[in-house]
Amino acid sequence: MTAPLLLAACVDKADLPRPVAQGDPLEGLAVIRQSGCSVCHAVPGVAWPKGRSAGDLAGFGAKPLIAGRLPNQPEILMRWVIDAPSLDPDTAMPPFALTRDQARHVAAYLYSLDDQ
Ligand code: HEC
Repeated sequence: MTAPLLLAACVDKADLPRPVAQGDPLEGLAVIRQSGCSVCHAVPGVAWPKGRSAGDLAGFGAKPLIAGRLPNQPEILMRWVIDAPSLDPDTAMPPFALTRDQARHVAAYLYSLDDQ
């Protein structure tokens, strides 16, 4: 099982963290609180709940891949946050009724989490 590691090693991380045009990280944190992301994920900046059924989002901005298999780029992350099953029908990450602007802010916040 070395293939995913090799793939990750090939991704250029030189331009991290990724800027999200017109994304506001603070708005993103507010959307994350309202949407209940932390029911499943531990999210830095959200004290409670700190869900453990999905991964801790600390350090997510420095990851080359989303969920270990999709390129971690703004457009793909926005689509993931709105409708992850459209990218992978088998994922346990549910879709959310978010606008593109809300997803853009969420992406901006997630990309600020690059400290791991
Ligand atoms: C019902 C539980 C649940 C909720 C609520 C949830 N997620 Fe997820 N999320 C998951 C699961 C499970 C995965 C792993 C998916 C996979 O590997 O297919 C995931 C994966 C992710 C990833 C990829 C993480 C990584 O390390 O690569 C991100 C980013 C993410 N979720 C963001 C969010 C955001 C933002 C919200 C709120 C809008 C949210 N999630 C709400 C279950 C949830």
